[in-house]
Amino acid sequence: MNKTISFHLQKGGVGKTTISGTIACQSALDGYRTLLVDVDPQGNASSWFYKNSLRWELSDVLQGNCYVNDAIVEIPNMENLFLLPTFGIGGGLKTYAETKIVDEPYVLQDLIRELSKDFTRIILDLSPGLGKLERAAIIASDEVITPMTPEVFSLDGLEIFIDELQKIKKNLRSQVRHERIIINSYDDRIRQHKDIFEAAKSGVFQVFKIPVDPVFRKAQEANSAPQLFKQRGKGLKQITLEAIQSINSAIWR
Ligand SMILES: Nc1ncnc2c1ncn2[C@@H]1O[C@H](COP(=O)(O)OP(=O)(O)OP(=O)(O)O)[C@@H](O)[C@H]1O
Ligand SMILES: [Mg+2]
Repeated sequence: MNKTISFHLQKGGVGKTTISGTIACQSALDGYRTLLVDVDPQGNASSWFYKNSLRWELSDVLQGNCYVNDAIVEIPNMENLFLLPTFGIGGGLKTYAETKIVDEPYVLQDLIRELSKDFTRIILDLSPGLGKLERAAIIASDEVITPMTPEVFSLDGLEIFIDELQKIKKNLRSQVRHERIIINSYDDRIRQHKDIFEAAKSGVFQVFKIPVDPVFRKAQEANSAPQLFKQRGKGLKQITLEAIQSINSAIWR
């Protein structure tokens, strides 16, 4: 089944890009034609996977400056993984989000509908916040999954997100599902992390965790998939790999 997922919480630095990119890699490694769409004006997903310069970006597609197929690039050394990029520096998505999207809340939904004919699995990487751009991306998704770090501010953030999402669904007539949470950068030696995990589990959500693992940052610096990154023979911890694989196999069903 074709599916589009976004990983979102309005809070910054909780692992949205890390999880979007890592799950996109896992999906591609499993043999599915997967597209990662960089919907963040910071362009972090793009600079992670693509270091060469690019001609076109998402905002060009949205404004009709180029065809979508002109902007999509193959990720080097990663069969089945494709990127619809956004330029971090000199890019047009921030201006587009501040001006044009106000009148076009369904522009990403329309684009994703077209792209799902070509890609089995699509992942949208969003910027922090809940402005027009993030709303447009959320309603373009079949499901939004919330990554959060194990801290009380993230729990507060989740409550705000649930509340805002209800309004978005009502105002924009969206059926997007929100049933899963990922506690990221989890360390089971820390009492507070366990407490946050238990608190999250006591609600209606299916809750996953991803351990803290320095290989994510190293893989990002090396423009690599975390699953393929090795330094002195060492890569992701086995427990991290298992967490990613179990999330990946659950969410595309
Ligand atoms: N499980 C993890 N273990 C260790 N480091 C992690 C983990 N997840 C993310 N990080 C690191 O935390 C930092 C922030 O992650 P990331 O950029 O994915 O967050 P984000 O939510 O996308 O941020 P923003 O809100 O700015 O878009 C990065 O340096 C990343 O490498
Ligand atoms: Mg990010």
